[in-house]
Amino acid sequence: MTMNLRSQLGEQPVDVIETLFACHDRMRRAARQAERLATEPGVPEGEVREGAASLVAYFRVALPQHQADEDLSIRPRLHEIDVPLETREALAQMSEQHVRFERELEDVLPLWEALARDGSRLAAMPSWFGAVATRLREELEEHLALEEETIYPAVRHYLSADSEAVILREMRGRRRQYESELRLLQPDARV
Ligand SMILES: [Fe+2]
Ligand SMILES: [Fe+2]
Repeated sequence: MTMNLRSQLGEQPVDVIETLFACHDRMRRAARQAERLATEPGVPEGEVREGAASLVAYFRVALPQHQADEDLSIRPRLHEIDVPLETREALAQMSEQHVRFERELEDVLPLWEALARDGSRLAAMPSWFGAVATRLREELEEHLALEEETIYPAVRHYLSADSEAVILREMRGRRRQYESELRLLQPDARV
């Protein structure tokens, strides 16, 4: 509730789990936007250009930061302690899925970049463009559910408040480092 109220008011989350959930909200929005762009007919050229530019900004700059939060800040800390096998397996699966998303995005990012330059090229996209966007959304939804149901509860359960505070500091440090790059691509984007 608090998280929803804060995000409605446009405030920054102050808790590590809230911050991660806020990232997932942005990821879900981006994935739905990617699917709409690729599958809905009749989107005006200007909207295609803007939508594609925001997808490039999100998936090229913001998503890797969130994945680094999980692979570099969360996973090693849970590995250091005696978490159940189910959590270890979920962590391995999470990182494998991150690698898979990176590979899948390599195919589609050049297409979004082309559309960000010229929205009229939407009609000339390859036949697999829509199918890839739908698959990406479905796979991301599955991925987010794994993290929200297994990994984030383990963060809260097994890690100390001090560890969570360090993770949050690391996450903010990553965003500061990439903020200027993100602003250049998309003035309103957030990681
Ligand atoms: Fe993830
Ligand atoms: Fe995540």
